[in-house]
Amino acid sequence: MPGVFTAGFFYSQFIYRPAYPEGSLEGQTVLITGANVGLGLEAARHAVRLGASRVIIGVRNVKAGEEAKQDIETSNNRPGVCEVWEVDLSSYSSVLAFGDRISKLPRLDSAILNAGLATQNFELAEGYERTITVNVIGTLLMGLLILPKLKATKAEYPETHPHLTFVVSEVHRLPDFEEWKQDNTLQILSDKDKAQMNIRYPLSKLLEVLVVLELAGRVRGSEVIVNMVNPGLCHSQLGREAGLIFGVMKLIMARSTEVGSRTLLAGILTGLESHGSYMSDGLVENTGLSTFVRSSDGVKARTKVWNEVTAILEGVRPGILQNI
Ligand SMILES: NC(=O)c1ccc[n+]([C@@H]2O[C@H](COP(=O)([O-])OP(=O)(O)OC[C@H]3O[C@@H](n4cnc5c(N)ncnc54)[C@H](OP(=O)(O)O)[C@@H]3O)[C@@H](O)[C@H]2O)c1
Repeated sequence: MPGVFTAGFFYSQFIYRPAYPEGSLEGQTVLITGANVGLGLEAARHAVRLGASRVIIGVRNVKAGEEAKQDIETSNNRPGVCEVWEVDLSSYSSVLAFGDRISKLPRLDSAILNAGLATQNFELAEGYERTITVNVIGTLLMGLLILPKLKATKAEYPETHPHLTFVVSEVHRLPDFEEWKQDNTLQILSDKDKAQMNIRYPLSKLLEVLVVLELAGRVRGSEVIVNMVNPGLCHSQLGREAGLIFGVMKLIMARSTEVGSRTLLAGILTGLESHGSYMSDGLVENTGLSTFVRSSDGVKARTKVWNEVTAILEGVRPGILQNI
């Protein structure tokens, strides 16, 4: 995997430690998806420690979410701060219901869209291969649904800096993405006979990087800071379905979930300079984006993928692009 195994990668995995999150989230409402385990759980623990008034844990398994809430609140000695809200990113109706619930909040200061899936098993969800549905389509749907509440928070509390942070990965550098040149790219990727599931997770993260860049280009950073974070290779439940090689790599090189989760907090604690940026090790590092993403073909692919995903989302919630 030459695109990932660079000197910088080994330095990050074995030597560098992202800064421990400091600062205050006092009075703020923070949403973190996929916070029942892994990086999301540890990020929610940090958010509670930093004084957030309300931390919403978006999970598909409410029982696991309640256990996480208990664990986070006990470890911080702050009962009643976390709320467990159900959402399944593989179901449009579930994400729509979640978005409607968010719209009723008095404020939303930051959202870390962390929930994600790595699997080698081909399945469809909402007509598209499940990894693409969860990591790309469902995640962008959620981002677009919660944008109005983030913007409204900025309007009502001008001293705040709402953030919309997407959790991506350096493995976006791995796949060749020739499918972008064809019509109906997402449909091609959802053809069971053609899908290369061994490289599907990295490809989903590449697609996520592309749509986040496009989204950030359309949102005013002075209203909502849109950025993306790469946590590095970390211990977590990710890869339960991803196969032996991933498991062995993690065993040798992974950071602890707590250390990785610091990079998620960095996403929402950073300033305007991170708008539209890729962050690694908690720092803005746009050179970490792949050569393809930064190339003129990458820019064309970005528009292509954005147009396809948003066409789907306009079908799901007509007029959703007006949320931007
Ligand atoms: N760990 C790493 O090395 C690494 C590296 C780079 C990037 N990342 C990214 O970090 C993020 C968090 O991953 P993690 O490593 O913490 O993995 P994890 O322990 O597997 O956590 C993933 C979370 O996403 C949730 N999720 C999966 N499918 C979902 C769905 N359809 N609807 C709602 N929630 C769903 C999981 O819920 P369940 O518990 O119910 O399955 C879980 O809470 C992901 O976006 C991943 O791509 C991880």
